[in-house]
Amino acid sequence: MPLKWNADMSVGVKTFDQQHQQFLEILNNLYDKSVNEISFDELQNAIGSVARFATEHFSTEESYFDKYNYPQSEEHKRLHVALVKRVKEFKDKKFPTAADGAFEIIDFLEDWLVTHMEDADRDYIEFFQKLGVTD
Ligand SMILES: [Fe+2]
Ligand SMILES: [Fe+2]
Repeated sequence: MPLKWNADMSVGVKTFDQQHQQFLEILNNLYDKSVNEISFDELQNAIGSVARFATEHFSTEESYFDKYNYPQSEEHKRLHVALVKRVKEFKDKKFPTAADGAFEIIDFLEDWLVTHMEDADRDYIEFFQKLGVTD
C-alpha cells in the first residue's frame, strides 16, 4: 500500500524531510513494481537506489550531528552502520525470483521506516528545534 508523506512525519529540518520523502518514493516505487511483474534488473536498480539513498542521507544527517554536537550522535551512527550492512547483504543476495527479492526489500524498508525514521530520527527533533536549525 503506498505511503503518503504527511506533516506528522516531519522532523523539522527541511533537508532531512526532503530526503525522507525520497525514501518513501523508493518504497512506493517498489510497491508498484512488485504488484506488476518485477524483473531482476529492476530489482537490482531498486537495491541500487536504496544503497545510494542510504549513503547520501546518512552522511547528511551525520554531518549535522557533527556540526552541532548532537549528544546521541554515536548511538545514531551505529544504527546507520547496521542499516548499510543490511543493504550490502541485499546487493549480494541471490533471490529465487525477483518478486521474492522485492518483498524482502519492502519488508526491510518498512522496518527501517518504523524503527529508524519514526523512532531514532524523531529523537533529534527537539535538539535541532532548540538550536533553531530548520534547513
Ligand atoms: Fe533519517
Ligand atoms: Fe537516521
